Amino acid sequence: MPENFDVVVIGAGPGGYIAAIRAAQLGMKTACIDDWKTADGKPAPGGTCTNVGCIPSKALLQSSENYEHASHAFAEHGIEVKEIALNLKQMLARKAKVVRQNNDGIVYLFKKNKVAFYNGVGSFAGSDDGGWRLSVRGDKPAELVAKHVIVATGSKPRALPGTAFDNKQILDNDGALAMSEVPASLGVIGAGVVGLEMGSVWRRLVAKVTVLEALPAFLGAADEQVAKEAWKLFGKQGLTIELGVKITAVRAGANVVVDYSDAAGKAVSATFDKLIVSIGRVPRTAGLGVEAVGLALDERGFVTVDDDCRTNLAQVWAIGDVVRGPMLAHKAEEEGVAVAERIAGQHGHVDFNTVPWVIYTSPEIAWVGQTEQQLKAAGVAYRAGTFPFAANGRARALGDTSGCVKLLADAKTDRILGMHAIGPLVSELIAEGVVAMEFGAASEDLARICHAHPSLSEATKEAALAVDKRSLNY
Ligand code: FAD
Ligand code: NAI
Repeated sequence: MPENFDVVVIGAGPGGYIAAIRAAQLGMKTACIDDWKTADGKPAPGGTCTNVGCIPSKALLQSSENYEHASHAFAEHGIEVKEIALNLKQMLARKAKVVRQNNDGIVYLFKKNKVAFYNGVGSFAGSDDGGWRLSVRGDKPAELVAKHVIVATGSKPRALPGTAFDNKQILDNDGALAMSEVPASLGVIGAGVVGLEMGSVWRRLVAKVTVLEALPAFLGAADEQVAKEAWKLFGKQGLTIELGVKITAVRAGANVVVDYSDAAGKAVSATFDKLIVSIGRVPRTAGLGVEAVGLALDERGFVTVDDDCRTNLAQVWAIGDVVRGPMLAHKAEEEGVAVAERIAGQHGHVDFNTVPWVIYTSPEIAWVGQTEQQLKAAGVAYRAGTFPFAANGRARALGDTSGCVKLLADAKTDRILGMHAIGPLVSELIAEGVVAMEFGAASEDLARICHAHPSLSEATKEAALAVDKRSLNY
């Protein structure tokens, strides 16, 4: 006999597991199906983010930054380290432990919230009066019936046409996080978020890293001032980035040869020990039984949804990477909560204008809202205020004074339209910009709020003061 649920979520990434927990909190009988397993066959809920994305990448970013600091930055603090050795095996083991803690945390949360968890591939089998019939294929096959289904099946890496990932030499994000030796030379195709974060990890562990980017502009989605600063700083660190390239062939043998034409149209052949291909991600719907029930996909394979994440099928919803919008864990989570609340008859809401972006390089890059170039293109009159970390006491004490915080405010109303930052821990500072924008704050509001001293957050207050040309410390 199939088991009946109010809500079944397919996928336990940040979108799916959060949706399941919220649905259960709201009193609905909820199940979540997820197919991820560890190499030794254990269920590993958490999706791309937990297993091969946000969490392991941040673990390696931290470890590699510690290594670089111990190698180059401690001496300035008067700490002399005689011998430094890299134990990559231990670094990877620590990363795996952090991932496992997160997997286990989700299993615990499912139990705590009484979410039934099925480890296997979930697919639509049809519908009847009771709702949607779903089957789970795996070690413990099961049949479920759900009044509401939330599709949260995520995304997978996009391969270069004609160049399949082998995760030996041609690596996707999974392979990029699991190299057992530091390659002497590493090629990265795509100077997006994965390329810059993974390129940074391996450069810090002393690989020679070359990033090949198709677009002529660097970090086109970021504010130009921030992108320029990032370009300068990454160059100083020794990350080679070539823009405007056209990849013509990739050949894997004893090493990987990449043929491309450079920005000037000159043919180049570059040889690397390993190659990371990070040119974006594509939605994942294979195996879901989309055809069996007629779930509509758009021309790029994303599940088609309206603004409220409703699909073309009654009581079937879709969230996260498998639908339009930024491929970010926190966007997936917000959609998950909003959909669970809508199913419960509440008014869940996601504000896409205030979804923050963070790139966890060193320095970090973060932004929310509109860039200067977007405001100019839209003909919006604005005022900008910038404050450099070089003038911030906490940044000096940290020994990390690169970058700045910039605020953009409407010229007439002073309402904050965007915050852009590059520098130490701006991943944390950006939350203040998000809160300010959600509450419709003016730059003057931020300028009048007391910020702890010495703290990096004072740079945000000073940027707000700078909008009115009255910085106190610069
Ligand atoms: P996913 O996390 O992809 O989860 C989907 C789950 O569904 C997976 O477990 C999948 O196996 C499962 N599944 C798919 N089909 C089925 C099926 N038929 N049956 C059962 N299960 C199924 N975002 C950030 O916000 N911050 C970051 O720092 C960040 N870092 C990243 C670093 C890397 C290297 C990568 C690759 C991505 C990163 N992202 C980051 C993006 C983030 O991982 C995604 O936006 C997020 O995981 C999307 O969540 P999701 O729930 O939609 O899908
Ligand atoms: P991306 O979209 O961020 O960057 C891909 C880059 O590859 C772009 O700059 C693009 O112009 C370039 N490109 C595309 N085709 C190319 C080609 N043929 N040759 C050379 N360059 C080419 O995608 P990425 O880095 O793979 O990451 C996927 C997604 O995962 C991101 O969009 C982001 O949403 C998410 N992510 C988020 C992180 C974070 O929040 N810190 C970290 C890592 C990933």
